[in-house]
Amino acid sequence: MIYITRRESFNAAHKLARPDWSQEKNTEVYGKCANPNWHGHNYNLYVTVKGEINPETGFLVDLKWLKQIINVNVIDKVDHKNLNIDVDFMNDKLASTENLAIAIWDILWSHINESDAQLHSIKLYETENNFVEYFG
Ligand code: NI
Repeated sequence: MIYITRRESFNAAHKLARPDWSQEKNTEVYGKCANPNWHGHNYNLYVTVKGEINPETGFLVDLKWLKQIINVNVIDKVDHKNLNIDVDFMNDKLASTENLAIAIWDILWSHINESDAQLHSIKLYETENNFVEYFG
């Protein structure tokens, strides 16, 4: 078994706030991310797939193919968008890094598992210092 990772980046706006809580409570729980007038993050997404090397190509997967799958199904839908408003797969969810990582897994796994490889993990950095990992 061998693992390979493709990194993609996107910029997106969001706000973390529960509508059923007061602004005070949201600020207490979510800090700056509860700012009512939105703010942005520069996200870094690491998609790791695993499998066996194709003896003919020497590749696990063609990274051009993986890049395309990630871009068409995820990056094009979130880049320069508002995660709370513009992104259909985040509609009914709080726009936390945790929820976003799980949503990205749910979108990508079937596309990737159609190939000879399997999705191993989604690693999503919201900032340089904070990231989430999801293994399904
Ligand atoms: Ni934030």
